[in-house]
Amino acid sequence: MTDRELILEAIEARKMSYSPYSHFMVGAALLTKDGRVYRGCNIENAAYGPSNCAERTALFKAISEGIRDFDTIAVVGGDKDAKPEEMSFAYPCGVCRQVMIEFCKPEEFRVIVAKNTDEYKVYTLGEILPMGFGPADLGVNKK
Ligand code: THU
Repeated sequence: MTDRELILEAIEARKMSYSPYSHFMVGAALLTKDGRVYRGCNIENAAYGPSNCAERTALFKAISEGIRDFDTIAVVGGDKDAKPEEMSFAYPCGVCRQVMIEFCKPEEFRVIVAKNTDEYKVYTLGEILPMGFGPADLGVNKK
């Protein structure tokens, strides 16, 4: 799966966004190490606090099915009316970065932040969450 193909998956995932409060639709596509893709969208709530980001939706779907090994996540976000060229770079929030570091190696896991298949940036988790606190800090080695 190429980065562009994964971005296309995130664009599809974004169509399912439930975001009647922010009107900011986000889609994520999570590539597992064995080549599967889990899609996620943001799911908002009238009480605001229970809202879930697209990235965590994708991660929790995969983790709840027993998957623990992840390669890359692509994220696409923008206002519901945004044309492809008007999309934002929707960087994962701090909570999502923390969920990622629970399951993904900072130096290996790739995070693609895309406006569309032509405009995107690729980071490692460690670049967007330097000096993170993860399982190893509590003596937990999951491998
Ligand atoms: N959101 C995501 O789903 N992922 C991000 O990377 C940034 C923010 C959602 C949360 C909320 O539903 C909306 O975007 C506006 O913050």
